[in-house]
Amino acid sequence: MYSQAFRQLNILVLHGPNLNLLGKREPLIYGSVTLDSINRLLTEEADIIGIRIECLQSNHEGVLIDAIHDSCDKYQGIMINAGAYTHTSIAIRDALSAVKVPTVEVHLSNIYQREPFRHHSYIAAVAIGQISGFGAQSYKLGLHALVDHLRNER
Ligand code: DQA
Repeated sequence: MYSQAFRQLNILVLHGPNLNLLGKREPLIYGSVTLDSINRLLTEEADIIGIRIECLQSNHEGVLIDAIHDSCDKYQGIMINAGAYTHTSIAIRDALSAVKVPTVEVHLSNIYQREPFRHHSYIAAVAIGQISGFGAQSYKLGLHALVDHLRNER
């Protein structure tokens, strides 16, 4: 009999606008690590904890929304750094709310120590939780938090 407990967890990692520029972009704020290095770090971590991840970066809101819609049957969880869409996109929030795939929100920088317009996240209210301010480590912490949540749910 196929057991839920042993089903492989598949996690979708979504990176929003401008995160393709990591490494070159405002390194004092975002660090010198590239997006490829973050994805590699996450893939290594995924192997260690026995899950699968798929990473997608887009500068386009609609592409991120399509990926969220398509995540329903393929992924048990989503980790998202929506970049500036965090602070503007009711559409991404509505997509996450519609599909109900458990989601963790992450940010490299501590958005609450920055400009006031970054203090509000449209995603936070539909996420399990948020990790912000630990640089590339935010993603690793976010992945562990999401996987722990999903494993404890079963
Ligand atoms: C960010 C924070 C956002 O305010 C900003 O627009 C980004 C990156 C972060 O990871 O710290 O693009 O999401």
